[in-house]
Amino acid sequence: MTGRSYCGSFSRADAGQTVTAFGWVQRRRDLGKLTFVTLRDHTGVVQLVFADTEEDTALSEAHTLNREDVLSIEGAVRVRTDKDVNPEMATGEIEILVTKMEILNRAVTPPFLVDGDGSDTTEETRLRFRYVDLRRPRLHRNLALRHAVFQSARRILTEERFLEIETPMLTKSTPEGARDFLVPSRLSPGAFYALPQSPQLFKQLFMIGGIDRYFQMVKCFRDEDLRADRQPEFTQLDLEMAFPQSKDAVFAVLERVLSAVYREVAQIDLETPFPRLPHAEAMDRFGSDKPDVRYGMELKNVSEIAANGGFGVFTDAVRQGGKILAISVPGGASYSRKTLDELQDVAKTHGAHGLAWIKVEEAGSTSPIVRHLGANVVVSLIERMEAAVGDLLLLVAGEKMEAALGAVRVDVARREGLDCGSWKFLWITDFPLFGTDESGELTSEHHPFTSPWPAHASLLEKAPLEVLSEAYDLVLNGLELGSGSIRIHSRALQERIFRLLNISAEEAELRFGFFLRALEYGAPPHGGFALGMDRLVMLLAGERSLRDVIAYPKTATGLCPLTDAPMPVSEAQLEELGLQLRKQED
Ligand code: AMO
Repeated sequence: MTGRSYCGSFSRADAGQTVTAFGWVQRRRDLGKLTFVTLRDHTGVVQLVFADTEEDTALSEAHTLNREDVLSIEGAVRVRTDKDVNPEMATGEIEILVTKMEILNRAVTPPFLVDGDGSDTTEETRLRFRYVDLRRPRLHRNLALRHAVFQSARRILTEERFLEIETPMLTKSTPEGARDFLVPSRLSPGAFYALPQSPQLFKQLFMIGGIDRYFQMVKCFRDEDLRADRQPEFTQLDLEMAFPQSKDAVFAVLERVLSAVYREVAQIDLETPFPRLPHAEAMDRFGSDKPDVRYGMELKNVSEIAANGGFGVFTDAVRQGGKILAISVPGGASYSRKTLDELQDVAKTHGAHGLAWIKVEEAGSTSPIVRHLGANVVVSLIERMEAAVGDLLLLVAGEKMEAALGAVRVDVARREGLDCGSWKFLWITDFPLFGTDESGELTSEHHPFTSPWPAHASLLEKAPLEVLSEAYDLVLNGLELGSGSIRIHSRALQERIFRLLNISAEEAELRFGFFLRALEYGAPPHGGFALGMDRLVMLLAGERSLRDVIAYPKTATGLCPLTDAPMPVSEAQLEELGLQLRKQED
């Protein structure tokens, strides 16, 4: 008898061997004197045969097997006859004629089929019974891929002399633009820890502490509105290095990490260095700070041509300081009215007043605005957009309409299936240091510890919105995979930034005093990066939701159906923490 094998590993080479196997019953088919059972473990499935030539007990017990019962079997591997070979099954050339079976545990009827694609149930149910859901080969494959990605990244960073060091989870707020998850302290009644939104300040303190090169696979916590690519707790590959000559040093490390990961887990050779695109150019050409460059359809400013026609919407927009932007959709002239309306809705959701279209057709151009624009203007537009017969021009007019047309571009690509195939990494550089919130106050585009361009430091108070920063993002196929920056290492400059962000000296001391002090004790120049590991694994696994690459994820409303977290706590617990709940209004 040979040792234990996994269900998915049996093959013709085992023919004649007596083997043992363990697993879960996927399916049972009773054919009177023969019972077929598909046995599953995380490697795959194998067919078991219980025949009347065997001990009666095994066969009669086989009749009682239900889905997900847990078995141990012993039996002989035999090659199936040609007509019984199942080409759909990796082990489809053989079956195991069972001689001994032990039912290790019975299972109640599972809430959904493990061998289904998940469409027979809801996400809530999948997460509530996650331990059954995890038996799906797809989820197992994703988690194994996640493991491999983490191992590769750890290995290459260790080779590059980075140290993996943990930072506290019970800490103080780190501003990354989301709300904090708070943890009340029993020993300091009325005081709260915050779970880290990122280890940003701790990693900068490592640099001041002479650690030089740090990394960590770290959980981060952010209380923000969730989407398919956002979870309230997620994992970053966080790193920081002292004395980088420039951001190029950080880019080079990340490029080596990602090349190793892609080579080792996906046998893909990435082309490095990754292209770089300044933020302003990304917005102009793609209407996005995370452009998907797997396809063209770049935005063009056609104000000079389009404002010359007689179309009031266009001429007014330009007169009021706006622009007319256009993309050309290859083959889009065949789009139905319904599709055009849907695209218009996309543009409107992103702030446009409307979306004009011109179909370039053999017999001329069709469009509700052609008669306003005039034939000559339309011809010039088609020329400028280098459009051919069969193409479709889409136009928006107004101020800051890049993002709206950028969103239309992404939607068109999805409809046309252009957003697939290759891996287009891209560094976006030279972000503005500040943006503004709804009330016009300055906010950090990245976080407040990001260095402005040294040459722009003199503009900080005069023209803060013109100041560019040493921040950068890594974008992959239209998704922000990570971001980082060269940091401020002077207390005086850090304090100037806080002032501009309307953080008073008292508040700065209260929130960041420990960090400001540290900057005075010999802070070296430093910079770093954080890569969203869940997003990276999601893209590598070909999944569309982070939930498919995280073992125990939360729902879109931040709940864990498995454990029913979050939960109310007992009066006694609240009292111990010195907390009293306010009455919830209905
Ligand atoms: P940032 O806030 O851009 O930078 O985060 C870095 C990367 O983390 C991932 N990420 C998320 N993934 C899943 N769910 C979320 N809610 C979520 N939020 C962020 C993204 C993102 O690009 N301290 C800085 C980094 C630095 O400056 O070194 C930071 O955290 O992939």
